[in-house]
Amino acid sequence: MKYLSLSCLLGLLCALCFACGDNTDWVSKGPTNEVYSEDLLLLGKEVYSDTCSTCHGADGSGSFGPALLGKGHKYTYQNHRTLIERGRRSMPGFGASLTDREIEAVLAHIRVGFFSD
Ligand code: HEC
Repeated sequence: MKYLSLSCLLGLLCALCFACGDNTDWVSKGPTNEVYSEDLLLLGKEVYSDTCSTCHGADGSGSFGPALLGKGHKYTYQNHRTLIERGRRSMPGFGASLTDREIEAVLAHIRVGFFSD
């Protein structure tokens, strides 16, 4: 019984964390250890500065949009991709304006590329 209520409390705390955003220090987690080709990272850097930097800052530290730096661990690859393709709230989706390769490239850039140069 005691254990049961403790786990309920923990569950509730987790639910609250999800509801009001998170305070996780993603930056300290560093880049993901995914490996991308040099070509893809270069393209990603270009796509990022053309398409994303106005809202997320040239170095990923954020401006109108949140900082992206070091947040490769925040989303699975697929969820990260879906977010960029469809957008979310005040972020527009880019599924229609970027090619598949450009999306893969910009994903690579934000998942590890901020750290690779
Ligand atoms: C018009 C401004 C704007 C542009 C351009 C933009 N974003 Fe965003 N982005 C936002 C905003 C605002 C949010 C926060 C969305 C929310 O509140 O749900 C966001 C959120 C995100 C997130 C989630 C961040 C987190 O911590 O959860 C990612 C990843 C992201 N954007 C990537 C990109 C990429 C990659 C591009 C370029 C292809 C891009 N964004 C272009 C405004 C923008």
